[in-house]
This record gives sequence, C-alpha cells and structure tokens, in this order.
Amino acid sequence: MFTTQTQVIQKGKSALHYTIIPWDSEYLHNTTIEIEQFTVPSKAILKKLIDQLCHKHTLKKGDLLVSKIPLENYAKALMLHQIGFYYMEQATTLDIDLSLWNGKMFTFPNEDQYQLIQANAADQKAIQHIAQTTFTADRYHLDPRIPKKYADYRFKKWIENSFNNKDTIYTCIDNTHTIIGFFIVNEQKEYAEFRLAGLHNAYKGKGLGKMLYHHMYQILKEKKFTRIASVISLNNIQVMNVYMYLTQAKFTKPLIVLHNVL
Ligand SMILES: CC(C)(COP(=O)(O)OP(=O)(O)OC[C@H]1O[C@@H](n2cnc3c(N)ncnc32)[C@H](O)[C@@H]1OP(=O)(O)O)[C@@H](O)C(=O)NCCC(=O)NCCS
Repeated sequence: MFTTQTQVIQKGKSALHYTIIPWDSEYLHNTTIEIEQFTVPSKAILKKLIDQLCHKHTLKKGDLLVSKIPLENYAKALMLHQIGFYYMEQATTLDIDLSLWNGKMFTFPNEDQYQLIQANAADQKAIQHIAQTTFTADRYHLDPRIPKKYADYRFKKWIENSFNNKDTIYTCIDNTHTIIGFFIVNEQKEYAEFRLAGLHNAYKGKGLGKMLYHHMYQILKEKKFTRIASVISLNNIQVMNVYMYLTQAKFTKPLIVLHNVL
C-alpha cells in the first residue's frame, strides 16, 4: 500500500511544502513530487527552494514536479510559471445532488443489451486493457514531456490498485458478456466518489458513455446515495458533455494544475 507524507523545506520565513507521489513515481518511471503549498516573498526565493528540493532528492531529467493551485491564488500559479512550470489543466470538483435526479427521464437505444454489474477478479485484465487505451484528455497524456506509454501504463496500474483497495469496481457488459467499459467508485458514508470510468475505444461516440453513467447513477440511487462527487478536468469535453446531459451539476473548488518535467 502506498503512503504519502508532507515534507517541508524552510528558509527563514519562507517554506515549501511537498509530497513525493509514490504511485505516479512508480508508474511514470520517474520521481513525481507535488508542491502542496509555499510561502515566499519573491519568485527568486521560490526558485531557490525548488533548487534545494531538486538537490535534496537528486532529481534528474524526466522527473515531474506538479502543483495544484486554487484559482483564488492565481498569483502563485504565475510565480510557478515564471520559474519554468507550465499550465496543464483546470481541475474542478463536480457535485451532483442525486436526491432530485429522476433516471426515468432518460432512455437509450438498445438499452436492454447492456448491464452494469459488480466486477470480479477475472475481469481485471479486460478492464486494464480498456484503461490503458482509452484515456487521452488527462494531464499525463496531454503533457508532451511525459512518454505516452508511461501515461497509458499509469491507468493500467490504477486498475490493479483499485482491485486491491476499498473501491467498488463495476463492469459494463453487452449481451455476449463482452466487457465494453468500467466504473470505479469509492462508496463513502455520505457520498459516492467517481474515481475513474471509461469505455473501450471501439464503443465510444455512440451514446454508450451517457448510458454507462446513467446506469451508475441508477445503481447509486438504488443504494440510497444522495450525492456524487468527482474531480474532473475541464479538458475532458466528452465526460463534461455526459454530465451536462444527465444532471444539473455544480462545479466547485477550481484548481490550476501546473507541471514541470525536468
Ligand atoms: C467519457 C466517455 C465514457 C464518454 O463516452 P462516449 O461514448 O464518448 O460519449 P457518448 O457517445 O455517450 O456521448 C456523450 C456526449 O459527449 C459528447 N461527445 C462524445 N464524443 C465527443 C468528442 N469526441 N468530442 C466532443 N464531444 C463528444 C457529445 O455531446 C455526446 O452527446 P451527443 O451524442 O448527444 O452529441 C468516453 O469518452 C471515455 O471512455 N473517455 C475516456 C475515459 C474518460 O475520460 N473517462 C472520464 C473521466 S474518468
């Protein structure tokens, strides 16, 4: 099981808080470090602290520094940009009130040919294949300085992790029992968090994504969940269109996400 721990580099009143991300480091074959927050009087001091961080962890070419800055702290994003970080995405939390949602309002062509059911261990390989090939709009695939094969591998390994932790995994199967998609949900007490979902590339763009999400809402509604939350990237137009079709969703907590691949 991976664990993370915040570390601090301090210089007088200035401080840089960061965490090594062990899963990304392993899957992207680098050292990935998230800069969680910093207090500095100038970009020169910020640069000094980052240099110190690089030295401390002997960072090398290909290692990834990432920072997620709340939109209201835009000046900090600008400072990071001035010392070599670049904008990757705006991420936001999607908050869906399921209590008012009426699934009966929607119908889908050939709906009876597909089911969303809980996955078992034998499904892992097929789901991993989908995860490894379907993602394109995430910041790992969009960063030209991260090799595509590592970004693909990251999503493949995410599935393996999910099978070993407390997430609930669903498979979408057709009437020949072919797995065409998957859904990973962290079912907490107060709400369900959508962690990852995807369709096999061959089945995209036919309305099945909307149906997949509809089935997931329906299952959660039957399980008496009243709220769904999910962190999404505003780069992901496909999934945003699915959400806009199915729900009146609220976007909260906008974050500017910056990368710096050394
Ligand atoms: C997100 C996903 C499940 C949606 O499934 P899909 O089959 O592509 O979407 P649908 O055919 O159901 O279409 C839903 C709507 O999305 C929009 N859409 C679909 N493909 C699109 C594209 N390439 N560009 C822009 N909009 C698109 C359309 O508005 C469509 O509605 P319409 O057909 O009425 O116009 C699928 O694209 C996918 O697996 N993506 C990769 C994984 C991913 O990003 N998952 C979500 C985050 S974890």
